[in-house]
Amino acid sequence: MNIRSISANIAFAVRSNGGISALPAVIAVLAISPATDALADQKILIAYFSNSGTTAEMARKIHDQLGGELYEIKLAEPYPTNGAALAERARREVEKGPLPVLDGTLPTMNHYDLVLVGAPVWWNTLPAPLMSFLKQVDFKQTTVAGFATYSLSSGTFFPDLKAQARNAVLAEGLGLDEFGIRQGQVDDRIGSWIRSLSSTDLHSSQ
Ligand SMILES: Cc1cc2nc3c(=O)[nH]c(=O)nc-3n(C[C@H](O)[C@H](O)[C@H](O)COP(=O)(O)O)c2cc1C
Repeated sequence: MNIRSISANIAFAVRSNGGISALPAVIAVLAISPATDALADQKILIAYFSNSGTTAEMARKIHDQLGGELYEIKLAEPYPTNGAALAERARREVEKGPLPVLDGTLPTMNHYDLVLVGAPVWWNTLPAPLMSFLKQVDFKQTTVAGFATYSLSSGTFFPDLKAQARNAVLAEGLGLDEFGIRQGQVDDRIGSWIRSLSSTDLHSSQ
């Protein structure tokens, strides 16, 4: 449930039950929402690349708590399903290039107040599709926060994102290991991260 639907639920509860009986629901929501209220009226984009679904799952969980628009970074030529062939192509793209061609129209970053950018960690850094994406967008001083999934560690994902996100104002990122996501143990960490983002001053070029 995100901030907008929580507000709608309160309004509905007050209308249908009357003030007093709706009070517990109102108190409960006030207890969990002040930190995220700051983001309620902001235009938010959650852009992500995911090859095997884990980062997509993290993006959905973020979206469930925050709302906004989800945008999947897709490849014109998807990666092979064979692990060795995937690893070989992924490494070649990062080390020698060329970076992969993306499919679809990219969103315009300066339509948003906050852009969350997520991907798996590959070879300790950003995967090549995210590098392609970042080469093509200019954040024009919009606030950007990264998120990543990995098996062992986030490596240099977050400093590399900062270096490659042109004209972005970087906020705190969140990296989660893939096992926690698969076991459904990450909602609290995502919630605390969103609360920390909501106390960040958003820079937007709108
Ligand atoms: C080509 C490739 C390289 C990877 N490199 C790393 C790495 O350097 N460090 C790490 O912790 N995990 C690494 N992983 C594991 C992924 O980061 C992890 O499985 C991630 O959650 C996958 O996300 P996805 O399902 O959204 O694609 C790698 C996976 C692949 C396929």
